[in-house]
Amino acid sequence: MNLYIVTGTTRGLGEALALRIARDADNELIALARAPDAPVPGGARLEVDLADPVALAAACDRIEQRIRGKRYAKAVLVNNAGVVAPVAPLEAADPAELARNLAVNLVAPMLLMGRFLRMTESAAMLRRIINISSGAGRRPIFGWSAYCAAKAGLDMASRVVALESQSRRRPVEVASLAPGVIDTAMQGVVRSAAPEDFADVERFRKMKADGALRSPDDVAADILRLEAEGRLKGEGVLDLREL
Ligand SMILES: NC(=O)c1ccc[n+]([C@@H]2O[C@H](COP(=O)([O-])OP(=O)(O)OC[C@H]3O[C@@H](n4cnc5c(N)ncnc54)[C@H](OP(=O)(O)O)[C@@H]3O)[C@@H](O)[C@H]2O)c1
Repeated sequence: MNLYIVTGTTRGLGEALALRIARDADNELIALARAPDAPVPGGARLEVDLADPVALAAACDRIEQRIRGKRYAKAVLVNNAGVVAPVAPLEAADPAELARNLAVNLVAPMLLMGRFLRMTESAAMLRRIINISSGAGRRPIFGWSAYCAAKAGLDMASRVVALESQSRRRPVEVASLAPGVIDTAMQGVVRSAAPEDFADVERFRKMKADGALRSPDDVAADILRLEAEGRLKGEGVLDLREL
């Protein structure tokens, strides 16, 4: 069996990843999402608000209970959940939204990576972490200070975990992966911003009008294929468009 832990599976890329993971009967899925606990295709969904570190710790305890005593050929953590808001120049950004952005996009993935490394130490022969990052973590975008900073932080945290992994008894493959532009609700948020809050808004509206956005399912398929081929590793920071 393979274990997949995926965050943010209610829609967008996370939903597409979860549905594809569930197609393989050899996979066990644990989905972490802001939706009630429920069985889902391939496994179970556990309800958690990733912005709440206490709730996240409790969810990790529950994952640990679920996998206790099991042995997996492979365990994969996909930190997918994300938020782009606040979209505004820093001085106009809502402070609570800014803190929430960093909590969901950076703090939660780091906490989850730490717990994943501990809880799967002897539970899986092969371990992989895929952090869904963004090109926005690698270049500044007007109005996206929180999102850019969080994704840049996620890239660097991934690089550190990749470095630390080199001295592990069993190495862990780590990738902070920019997925390209995907046709999800997050892009809708971006396109609805006022030009004074987001200077590139017209470019993003044009990309949608030109059909330049990829479907979440196509992107999920590419990510899982590259993962299965063992190509999501290295020094930690990758771009799907270059693989
Ligand atoms: N779309 C793009 O063009 C693009 C480009 C580069 C990178 N990315 C990255 O790709 C990933 C997926 O984004 P997407 O485009 O699929 O976005 P999306 O459609 O907005 O979906 C985001 C997912 O994250 C979940 N989420 C947000 N805040 C959460 C919280 N506090 N607790 C639990 N779950 C939470 C959402 O759940 P709820 O339904 O509960 O809100 C939803 O399932 C993100 O990391 C994003 O930064 C996207």
